[in-house]
Amino acid sequence: MSSALAFDDGDPGVRVRVPAKINLHLGVGDRRADGYHDLTTVYQAIALYDEVTVVETAEPGVRVRAAGDDAAAVPLGTDNLAVRAAVALAGELDLTPAVSIHIAKNIPIAGGLAGGSADAAATLIGCARLWGPVEPDLLTRVAAELGSDIPFCLSGGTALGTGHGEKIEPVTTGGRYHWVVAAAEGRLSTPAVYAEVDRLRETGVGGYSDSVTELLAALRTGRAEELAPCLRNDMTEAAISLRPQLREILTAGVEDGALASLVSGSGPTTLFLARDVHHATALAGRLRMRRLAREVHHVHGPAFVNVG
Ligand code: C5P
Repeated sequence: MSSALAFDDGDPGVRVRVPAKINLHLGVGDRRADGYHDLTTVYQAIALYDEVTVVETAEPGVRVRAAGDDAAAVPLGTDNLAVRAAVALAGELDLTPAVSIHIAKNIPIAGGLAGGSADAAATLIGCARLWGPVEPDLLTRVAAELGSDIPFCLSGGTALGTGHGEKIEPVTTGGRYHWVVAAAEGRLSTPAVYAEVDRLRETGVGGYSDSVTELLAALRTGRAEELAPCLRNDMTEAAISLRPQLREILTAGVEDGALASLVSGSGPTTLFLARDVHHATALAGRLRMRRLAREVHHVHGPAFVNVG
């Protein structure tokens, strides 16, 4: 039996399993004239997935529905990035969209894990299958116009991101890493955290970490112990400033034996690097017992997009 999600008319559609992203390095430069900040970032996709199914419908339009723990918080109108992705691609291809998008949501919303961007990327891939062939360059351009993280989310893996995050080059990794992902209560707005970075900089706090040379060398070894001291996030102080309890969980993870702790993107999700899968299981158990986070997962990275 197919595991594809059948819609009312029985059409299984195109099912895309799309991973969350973390930033192993998030160097934030100055605010530019267009409002974005220059970034030097290393993305890694992790094995925490949303599943997006795109089905053609008889009626024109783009409909979306969501299932899963965070489903009630998924916007169902044109502020949904997946809907905007389908509309944008249809516009480029000069066709009238007639699709239904179903999002099975596992990635915490507004958590610094690019869940909305992942759903938009999955929708682009699904629509391209239904409407294509679509040139990869066109898909990447539409993705970049929709959001800084979306070009990375089209493929996953590990990649260097520059520009405002949208220019992607794949990065070689020598192995698989094990992460504990702790989703904090509540959400943080990405623009608000960037604004806090700017505010703190005006007071002399924080700078731009624009070199990833050591991190890229560490990644080639595949050893978590080499990677740990190279993890960096220039948004850490801003995220803590807006959500002071983050400091407590970052410290707790290290006390519990993590090789390193890190705020994920603009937060409030936090990440803990483990030595191996057994260490990750133990670490996740200890962090759950502390009850500082609403969800604790242990996952590997890199992970990849899968089209079923
Ligand atoms: O690109 P995306 O739509 O995901 O970005 C959301 C918001 O985050 C932007 O409108 C901007 O305020 C901020 N941002 C930024 N610099 C970046 C990426 C995002 O200031 N490089």
